[in-house]
Amino acid sequence: MLICVPEVLSKSDVAEFRGVMDATDWEDGRSTAGAQSALVKKNEQLPPNGEVARALGRRIVSALTSNPKFVSAAVPLQIFPPLFNRYAAANGHYFGIHVDNAVRGDHLTGLRIRTDLSVTLFLSEPDEYDGGELVIEDNFGSHEVKLGAGDCVLYPSSSLHMVTPVTRGARVASFFWLQSMIRDAHARSMIYDLDTAIQALVERLGRDDPETVKLTGIYHNLIRYWAEV
Ligand code: NI
Repeated sequence: MLICVPEVLSKSDVAEFRGVMDATDWEDGRSTAGAQSALVKKNEQLPPNGEVARALGRRIVSALTSNPKFVSAAVPLQIFPPLFNRYAAANGHYFGIHVDNAVRGDHLTGLRIRTDLSVTLFLSEPDEYDGGELVIEDNFGSHEVKLGAGDCVLYPSSSLHMVTPVTRGARVASFFWLQSMIRDAHARSMIYDLDTAIQALVERLGRDDPETVKLTGIYHNLIRYWAEV
């Protein structure tokens, strides 16, 4: 399941991020790639252990963990420190089809996670570049994603995906992974659908409606049943 979360960062946050990133030195993106993905990866990254990436990354994690839609969709246990990449048309950048590594370790914090969900947070507006679509394959086919600056998409880390060549301008984004409390993607998807339906009922009937209270209880009991914490 692909889930888009709008306005994780405000436009003024994005502008501030971009200013800081433009003033920083970038490195070859293959430094964080696995053996297979390194063969098809051609882009630039902010140094993953640098203070700039860490500081901006903390702001993203903080924005996400206070975003109800993100929390509902991901049920996050651990979020990997966000990374930042840039695909420039002038350098023919792209990232061919690959699957993300199943486990990610962070040298600085010692954090090690199973990658359940991959996240791309767009930091360029769609009209700043051509190409650069995030293409994600699932059982229903191929999906092209290009969102506004400040918006993010969640997709299963198990999916094949790629970034098509950027042919004009530059595409800047943050990308990272998370381990969910709910490992099973199907269970997580049902939890999200249930929560979305309950929120709509709360709007219509109020939080103290008896059936709404009962459904809320079922929601929490399913999390209790499935969660690994
Ligand atoms: Ni990837």
